[in-house]
Amino acid sequence: LPHDDAQYLCSLIRSIPGFPQENILFRDFMPVFADPRGLDLLIQGLVNALPVKPSEFDYIAGLEARGFLIGIALAQKLNKGFIAVRKAGKLPPPVVSQSYDLEYGSATMEIEKDLVPSHSRILIVDDLIATGGTAWAAMKLFESIDCTVSGFSFVMKLDGLDGLAKLENHPTSTMMVMP
Ligand code: PRP
Ligand code: ADE
Repeated sequence: LPHDDAQYLCSLIRSIPGFPQENILFRDFMPVFADPRGLDLLIQGLVNALPVKPSEFDYIAGLEARGFLIGIALAQKLNKGFIAVRKAGKLPPPVVSQSYDLEYGSATMEIEKDLVPSHSRILIVDDLIATGGTAWAAMKLFESIDCTVSGFSFVMKLDGLDGLAKLENHPTSTMMVMP
């Protein structure tokens, strides 16, 4: 994005210290979605930064919940289908499940099993990568149904956490890095 646009976009991201727990600096994207110019710049920025060409993937997968908002807009813009990767217990059977480690404890993500044909190529998108656990779980889910992960697209990477290392050298794009 042009410098002024990038600066405008960054100015809309709200930072909240101590939420949802102590020692977390929470990055809030809702003011971006609430602003027509911000929303347009966000989606255009993701299109410009795609880690692979649109011809190299068939579907966009978005990670609950903020990844849904970004993923559905991006999928519509690129004329791709959209797949929701959800927290466990939300999707009807048959599903496939993958657990992953959080900083404390663990969590499980799921996708519907028969939603996409085997050998489909998937671009995984989310607002933010921190430890990379969520994105890693999504990657494993698609591999378990014989799909290929073409790449990952994030709006923000949190500095100081090596989340990208978990993604096994897949092509990845991040629009911005913040502490
Ligand atoms: C956030 C963010 C990513 C994930 C990144 O979602 O949107 O999905 O955390 O963290 P990680 O790289 O350490 O796995 P959150 O779990 O807060 O869920 P939400 O979008 O439903 O609020
Ligand atoms: N998910 C994990 N870490 C986060 C942070 N600092 N802000 C917003 N979402 C997050």
